[in-house]
Amino acid sequence: MYKWVISLAFYSIFILVFQVVYLASAADHYTRADFPADFIFGSATSAYQYEGAAFEDGRTPTIWDTYVHSANNNGATGDVTCDGYHKYKGDVKLMSETGLEALRFSISWSRLIPNGRGPVNPKGLQYYNNFIDELIKHGIQPHVTLYHVDLPQALEDEYGGWLSRKIVKDFRAYADVCFREFGDRVLYWTSINEANAAAIAGYEYGFIAPGHFPSSKVSSRNQTYVVGHNFLLAHSAIAKLYKNKYKATQKGYVGINIYAWGSVPHTNTREDIIATQRANDFFIGWLIDPLFFGDYPETVKMNAQTRIPAFTEYESKQVKGSVDFIGVNHYLTVSIMDRPITSDIITRGFDADKALWIIFDQGQPAPGEYPVMPSGLYGVLEYLKQTYGNPPIYIHENGQMTRRNGTLMDTSRVKYMHAYIGSMLDAMRNGSNTKGYFVWTFLDCLEILDGYESAFGLYYVDLDDKELKRYQKLSGKWYSNFLKGGNVISEPSKNAPFHLRSGFSQ
Ligand code: NOJ
Repeated sequence: MYKWVISLAFYSIFILVFQVVYLASAADHYTRADFPADFIFGSATSAYQYEGAAFEDGRTPTIWDTYVHSANNNGATGDVTCDGYHKYKGDVKLMSETGLEALRFSISWSRLIPNGRGPVNPKGLQYYNNFIDELIKHGIQPHVTLYHVDLPQALEDEYGGWLSRKIVKDFRAYADVCFREFGDRVLYWTSINEANAAAIAGYEYGFIAPGHFPSSKVSSRNQTYVVGHNFLLAHSAIAKLYKNKYKATQKGYVGINIYAWGSVPHTNTREDIIATQRANDFFIGWLIDPLFFGDYPETVKMNAQTRIPAFTEYESKQVKGSVDFIGVNHYLTVSIMDRPITSDIITRGFDADKALWIIFDQGQPAPGEYPVMPSGLYGVLEYLKQTYGNPPIYIHENGQMTRRNGTLMDTSRVKYMHAYIGSMLDAMRNGSNTKGYFVWTFLDCLEILDGYESAFGLYYVDLDDKELKRYQKLSGKWYSNFLKGGNVISEPSKNAPFHLRSGFSQ
């Protein structure tokens, strides 16, 4: 069925290899060897998006299952998706052939501990043990995320999930099982995926699970801030647990992950420059400042007033210093203006009281395709370096969304990866303490934003084939060539403007 596509793919691979060889002598190329030997390159996935087997072997539903099975959704679910639960051995083989050095994946809480609390499910335990062993057997380092939008529905029903502080105890107990069972082989632990975006998209806009729209209701407390607060408390509880109980023997690291878009002022006016700093405070500082300084940014507290929970002294101490690294998911760059001006405006800052307007700079990509703006990544890395004292950073997700149209010749994705990896290298040469890069994603899978309409994968998965056969795309070939030491051409990335945190006041 895909024969013609495959032969075209080989043709374009030939062209690509030719270009790589021909242009390698250009001054602006880079290779794997330009990165430190202990830098890690991999790819990323998440349990609900990859595993399938949603009702098998004791797994219970999560808020994500509930959300996609509700009327809000277009019918696309993770019931089967890539069927990684059954096909992981073949996939790890493909990962190894591609040359991945690491895989970032998440554990399904409700597969390991059905209903979120209580006894461990032996089948779930066995699956993750097998999966981790298979990765290690192939020399692929496991990086584990504990929470990726898939709260056990039972905990949502019982006490409102992340809206309640009761979650901290249950999350800690779940993490304890993971550290105890897998920590002999897993050194890199991320508590929560996209903590900022999960709170905003899940509890303010409602376009991901659990799909709450509280801002349309009169509410004295904004759910988004409450969930963010509980994310931080839960994160710091497990960081403390790891430090006290496991660190000495297992010698691993615990971090958190955020979504970070590149942000630039829409104009050079003072107002837009200040608004851009405010955007960084709201999207990055809101959850990262407490981890380094023990409290929320002043701008956020000032705007949110009593709607944002205050840290007690004890909480502040526990949260401050509780990360070994920051995980960053980066895809897009936006420009920020102080107030609405045109219909270009797509969205705004989540705090309902403050006009913080955001425009997506679309450039000229094909419809539904992410534009290539690598300076945004440079800007984010520079911002984190300057603001937080250059902490270790893992780029946990970066990759290009395109339409899921069956083509294996994803030249735009090659361009995208090429440019962003080059931009990361520029940032590292400028001192950024970035330690790893993971392409989202290895296989086309269930996409959180639109089901199976779009794709990010290095491999195409034929959903019409009973066997869900995987086909390598041009981007997979390109990444493989890079990982195996081949030359690639670096698009010279321009240094992004970035915005000093201090020096502006409102
Ligand atoms: C964000 C999420 O972590 C992941 O679940 C999603 O598929 C990708 N980035 C792309 O939108």
